[in-house]
Order: sequence, then C-alpha cells, then structure tokens
Amino acid sequence: MKILITGATGLIGRVISIKLLNKGYRVNFLTTSKKKINSIDGCNGFYWDPQKGVIDLNAFDGVTHLINLAGTSISRRWTKKHKNKIIESRVLSANIIYNSLIDLQIKLKGIISASAIGYYPNSEKYFNESDSFLPENFLQRVVQKWEKAITELETQTQNLLILRIGLVISSKGGILSYIVPPIKFCFGSAFGSGNQWQSWIHIDDLAEIFLYSIENSLSGIINAVAPCPITQNKLIKSLANYLNRPIIFPNIPNFVVKFFFNERSQLFLDSQKISSKKIEKKGFKFKFKIFENAISDLKIK
Ligand SMILES: NC(=O)c1ccc[n+]([C@@H]2O[C@H](COP(=O)([O-])OP(=O)(O)OC[C@H]3O[C@@H](n4cnc5c(N)ncnc54)[C@H](OP(=O)(O)O)[C@@H]3O)[C@@H](O)[C@H]2O)c1
Repeated sequence: MKILITGATGLIGRVISIKLLNKGYRVNFLTTSKKKINSIDGCNGFYWDPQKGVIDLNAFDGVTHLINLAGTSISRRWTKKHKNKIIESRVLSANIIYNSLIDLQIKLKGIISASAIGYYPNSEKYFNESDSFLPENFLQRVVQKWEKAITELETQTQNLLILRIGLVISSKGGILSYIVPPIKFCFGSAFGSGNQWQSWIHIDDLAEIFLYSIENSLSGIINAVAPCPITQNKLIKSLANYLNRPIIFPNIPNFVVKFFFNERSQLFLDSQKISSKKIEKKGFKFKFKIFENAISDLKIK
C-alpha cells in the first residue's frame, strides 16, 4: 500500500510517516515548501500550493490511501488575514485533492483527514460524535467549513474518515511547548477558573489511530482524544509536579486573557470534554489514558 500525506512535515505528520515506513508502507507527501521535498528520509516529496491551484499530480502515482493534515497553524495571532488563511489552507487543500482525484479518475481505498475538537462548543458537557451544533465561534466555523470540504471527497474513496483531534501532547512541539516553559521558571498558572476541560491525546496514540484506521477501513467521524480528559488546573498541576516546580501564582483572570488575546482567548479559556468511546468501540486500545502517564512517557524537560 502507498500512502500520500499532506502536511506530513508537521508535528503529527512526521510521526505518522515514520510509523508507516517502519511498517513497510510506501509514503509520498505533498509540501508547500520546495525546500522540504527531501526532508523526510524514506518518503518521496512533491510540491503543491493549494492557494494558487498548483499540484504535482505525480504525487498520486500508485497511491491507495490519503492522509490529510494540511493547514496553517491556529496558534499565531488571529488577524483578519491570518483567519482567512486558517480557513483557506484547509478548504482549498481539500478542494485541490478532490479536483486531482477527479482529473486522474482515481478512487482511493481510504482517505483519513484531520479535523479538530474545536467543532464542539465551549461547555462542561460530555460530547460525542452524534452531537451536532451550529457554529458560534471562529474555530467552530473553521471546522465546519473544513469538514464540509472534506466530505466532498466521499465520491473518490471507498472509506472517508474524519478524525476530530484533541490537544496533541508531544515533546517536539504543540501545546506543551507553550505551557511547559513558564512552569519551568515557576511562572506556571492556569487561565480563568482553570475548571475548563482539556481533551488531550498523546502523539503516539494519535499516530497509531491513523494507522489503525487505514488497517481497519474505518469511516465516518471519530474523535481522537484520550479517554480521560482533565481540567486545566489539574493539567498545570500535573506538569508542575512532574517538573518538580511549585505553582506560586494564582490563575490568570479571564479579563486579562481576553485583553491580551482577544478572540484567540478561546484557545485558553474554552472547555471541551470529548468522548473517546467510539474509537474504543472500534477496537482501538489506547496506550496513554491518563495524562500523568503520557507526560512521564514523553520525558519532558
Ligand atoms: N497539534 C494539535 O494539537 C492539533 C489538534 C487538532 C487538530 N490538529 C490539526 O491537525 C493537522 C496537523 O496538525 P500539526 O500539529 O501536525 O500541524 P503543523 O505542525 O502546523 O503542520 C501542518 C502542516 O500543514 C502544512 N501547511 C501549512 N500551511 C499550509 C497551507 N497554507 N496550505 C497547505 N498546507 C499547509 C505544513 O506542511 P508543508 O510546509 O510541508 O506544506 C505543515 O507542516 C492540522 O490541520 C491541525 O489543525 C492539530
């Protein structure tokens, strides 16, 4: 089997690529950066620029499955321009993949696309995949537009799976690269009440879910989160305990977070308690169910 990955050079994509290669899959990837074409050992890189409608169709040669991870980061400042880019980088990537598969008259065995738990509203409630919502905030609008564009791919694959990914815990980047440094300098504290739920997932479990989904022909919409979400207070405390640092300062009040981060404060203040039951019912076994076990495995320094 040959897998084509978009966004392969990112945090999640690199781990998935290595796992696929180790299991004997062949891997092609599409990158928006010509400099990165030879950046993943053992994989063949091809150039694309979804914004300009440019794609090297050789990337699809012999491909059976596609993993779609492309999208510009949401962590940078949400200017009007960057907000457009957050949406466009996802929607136009899905559109150009669709047009390429139509032009080449290819029907794949499987497409697995990233989405995000940003689909769900800010709430203390425990949500699963069958709960549906009208978008109330920017991230919900992004995810709904993204998933709509991905759903168009349904005619070009036997199985289409959308994974709503939680906060990815890794030692190489992502959310911990923002949270850990202040804790190390004893400035760590939660935002707002700290009672907001954080639905996280260890990078290794997430990559395994992608492989499991290919090998078991999963389809539909499935949450990719660990079984035990925790509150932000508990998350900060667990990291501080692990790093052997005290929490000296009180939580940063809501109004301060909103003053500094405006609309983007939802990244720090919103609560999402998301169910992992569906992927578990499909037979997937998590290695890391408990946050403390996940961080000690990652050996964060
Ligand atoms: N990390 C998380 O906690 C998390 C949580 C939920 C959902 N997700 C989603 O999962 C996907 C992968 O996440 P990640 O953490 O691996 O992200 P990442 O490290 O930022 O990697 C994303 C990749 O997307 C590509 N990309 C960037 N801008 C692009 C554009 N304008 N058009 C097309 N491709 C572009 C880049 O690859 P090239 O430079 O090679 O083109 C980049 O390496 C993202 O869509 C993200 O929104 C991540």
